[in-house]
Amino acid sequence: MLIADWHFMGLALRELRTILGVARLKITRRLSEGFVVVESDRSAAEMDALMKEAKPVFIDALLPVLTVATADAGYGPIAGALEGIADKGTTFRIEALRIGSVIPDKAKSVEVALGNIMEGHGYHADMDRPECTLFLILHGNQAFVSRAVGASVTLDWYRAFNRARYDALNRSEMKLDEAVRYFGVGINGSGLCLDIGAAPGGWTDYLAMRGRRVVAVDSAMLDYKRLCRYGSVVVAVAGSADDAAGLLAKIDSNIFAVPMEDADREFEGRRAAVLHVKSRLEGAVGVLRSLGRFGMITMDANVAPETACDIIGSVAGLADSGSVLIMTIKLVDNKIEERIKYVKEAISKVYGPAAVKKLPHNRMEVTLFARRR
Ligand SMILES: C[S@@+](CC[C@H](N)C(=O)[O-])C[C@H]1O[C@@H](n2cnc3c(N)ncnc32)[C@H](O)[C@@H]1O
Repeated sequence: MLIADWHFMGLALRELRTILGVARLKITRRLSEGFVVVESDRSAAEMDALMKEAKPVFIDALLPVLTVATADAGYGPIAGALEGIADKGTTFRIEALRIGSVIPDKAKSVEVALGNIMEGHGYHADMDRPECTLFLILHGNQAFVSRAVGASVTLDWYRAFNRARYDALNRSEMKLDEAVRYFGVGINGSGLCLDIGAAPGGWTDYLAMRGRRVVAVDSAMLDYKRLCRYGSVVVAVAGSADDAAGLLAKIDSNIFAVPMEDADREFEGRRAAVLHVKSRLEGAVGVLRSLGRFGMITMDANVAPETACDIIGSVAGLADSGSVLIMTIKLVDNKIEERIKYVKEAISKVYGPAAVKKLPHNRMEVTLFARRR
């Protein structure tokens, strides 16, 4: 079962052809635009090893279809199929996804009902740290059954987000969390973080929550009230700061509006958690230079890929050697591969070797990771 964001399914199929070294794929079923069953003579272990080596950009997951149960005869046959691929000495969690199924119950209720049946038969569920996840893709009168080690694959990221009740400012924050996990970034370092295109502040929140001091650049307002959780917030504005000061003081007494030219002095003097440079990046480079060097740069600005490269080019000289860059590449037209290639090459030149992944919370974009030479 090939799983990919439907926007990128064509590219995911192309990646799979390359991974398997075949000119054509035999697609046996299309359950939806994002779930496609492909025939292959490779074993599950072989597929797993090939995927790990290839690190595809667009394939979300590739799961072996181990068995297909009938879904129109109650839960009995499905529980039987799950028990056939589980074992009593290994803890499990069930993850179900419905794609136009005859089963009327919600995915969550299906999981609970089947988990109860299995526990009644001596299997052991563990919702938090399962040793294996049993997948159930319910489509029409069929249940496609699969299994993966641990909790390494998630079928429905929106549900996972709600389930975890992640303490986030917005969903965008999940993109940074996914990038940190996928690219294995050590986030608890020291050094200032520069967050470009920061409003309303999800990524800034993520970094500040982990003890990093953040310089956030955006001409739009941030969620200052929330960011005050981490200490004081200095907002550097162009021109007179008096009007802004009156407005911001009403939100929290720990927010200080200052003129742009005082940004570094106020940020350091107050040991503020966040400095918001309220400007587009193009007008903020001088202020950023006055702040010294950065231990990490993140960027989620909604600009064209070429502009994103120019922006990173203009601040790359301020990044510490060995520091991480995480940025999204907005894919606004159908020249997806061309745009990604352009950005990877441009960033590699000014920064260091770059890797790209379409992460679950990315929509029409992918995320790039690079480390400064
Ligand atoms: C998708 S939002 C960022 C969301 C943010 N990462 C979060 O977690 O809340 C994109 C932001 O990029 C900003 N932006 C666009 N062009 C910019 C530029 N040239 N310089 C700075 N910010 C820019 C926009 O004002 C907008 O607030």
